Amino acid sequence: MNTPATVDPQVHLINHPLVQHKLSLMRKKDASTNSFRTLLNEISMLMAYEVTRDMPMQDVAIETPLETMTAKMIDGKKLVFVSILRAGTGILDGMLTVVPGARVGHIGLYRDPKTLQAVEYYFKMPKEMQERDVVVVDPMLATGNSAVAAVTRLKQLQPKSIKFVCLLTCPEGIATLRKAHPDVPIYAAAIDRQLNEHGYILPGLGDAGDRIFGTL
Ligand code: URA
Repeated sequence: MNTPATVDPQVHLINHPLVQHKLSLMRKKDASTNSFRTLLNEISMLMAYEVTRDMPMQDVAIETPLETMTAKMIDGKKLVFVSILRAGTGILDGMLTVVPGARVGHIGLYRDPKTLQAVEYYFKMPKEMQERDVVVVDPMLATGNSAVAAVTRLKQLQPKSIKFVCLLTCPEGIATLRKAHPDVPIYAAAIDRQLNEHGYILPGLGDAGDRIFGTL
């Protein structure tokens, strides 16, 4: 039986009012490149808060001005943000603002316009991936083909865990990624209605890369 995305425990909808408000501003076709990028940056910081909610913490001895104590700290270096080029960069910056110690990997994938399949042209990850938790970022989980290709490739390096973060997705994208990688949780700010015949999300926000970089 198909589980609707909204009740699938592996699909996390980040429907905080601040995220939803900023997303609505981004969707508007007359949003400037500058405001689109700024809003994506702000949303990414808010999403980072949710995605890192279960990050492991360690006890560290510190000294307050009054006494020593055992304090909780994260090890940011164990986290790797993997940006799917080029639009993933738009989310990466905000996430790094919140977890500045994180490592960063890049995967270059382009979508063949005829087949809509993902073709890899770049792959660069930090060392010792077996010790790291990976958060893959890409604003649009549309056909799901790039997400599946990215996660499949990353799994070859056997990281401790993988999560996928996008701004927008749709039932088709979720179904494709969930089918290929049921162990990978998906975090999204919205699940839109559907894909169109060109693989764009409706109602969506257009081409995220073009809107981030002003290459319309
Ligand atoms: N990629 C985009 O940038 N936008 C979509 O709607 C789908 C894929």
